[in-house]
Amino acid sequence: MLVVIKDDYAAISAEAARLVANRLRKKPDLVLGLATGSTPLGLYDELVRLHREEGLDFSKVTTFNLDEYVGLSPDHPQSYHHFMQVHLFSRINLQPRFTHVPDGLALDIEDHCAWYEAQIRRYGGIDLQVLGIGANGHLAFNEPGSSLGSRTRVKTLTQKTREDNARFFGTVDDVPRYAITMGIGTIMEARELLLVATGEVKADAIAAAVEGPITAMVPASIVQMHPRAFLIVDRAAASRLRGEYSSSFEEAVMVRRPLGRE
Ligand code: PGA
Repeated sequence: MLVVIKDDYAAISAEAARLVANRLRKKPDLVLGLATGSTPLGLYDELVRLHREEGLDFSKVTTFNLDEYVGLSPDHPQSYHHFMQVHLFSRINLQPRFTHVPDGLALDIEDHCAWYEAQIRRYGGIDLQVLGIGANGHLAFNEPGSSLGSRTRVKTLTQKTREDNARFFGTVDDVPRYAITMGIGTIMEARELLLVATGEVKADAIAAAVEGPITAMVPASIVQMHPRAFLIVDRAAASRLRGEYSSSFEEAVMVRRPLGRE
């Protein structure tokens, strides 16, 4: 695991976008795993800027999103499908048929989850998976207690997660109770992980995920087991870490060549 601490949110977003762009320039048909939430917004804005100003090309990219609320249609304003459309898909040259978000209206959810996993395999697996982290340590909607080997399935959202996400819905009662989420086992099969976190509100979760024991009660702690996991966090989110970490990939590469940005 390579932890890089940046000064602020803008710097995290720029560094994360640099890593994605670097992978995309090397592999134009990159299979990119995407996340929703407020944290990756800066990364997506920066990717849009690189597309517009530097011609970063997404035309051969395939994407797979981590999760979706059960019961929300793709055009529901709070669906993750809609979120991706507004914040990324409509602003770059991704081909719609290469974008995948779990279907919150699937009639047979179990069947849909199996299909989603099969699609990921069909495209050769995810090269780089973007991740946020919940204040409770969740990874996608794998809430505390999720099996560390889990696959794409339905999860019941915790009260904490529903409260955290109520800001998008108005009231907590409007937040769906269930979501389809890639499993932890699914996420761990991505060749590289890129986790971004910002703010004091994530400091406990980051400390537990990076330096705590690997436990299902902190699903994000599983990233310690991934051979190529990059965590980009700001000072506030890093404030409860005790180890010493680098402030750039270049600096980290000087001591840890294998995980560098080649
Ligand atoms: P956030 O959500 O980026 O909105 O904080 C992250 C998450 O819950 O995984």
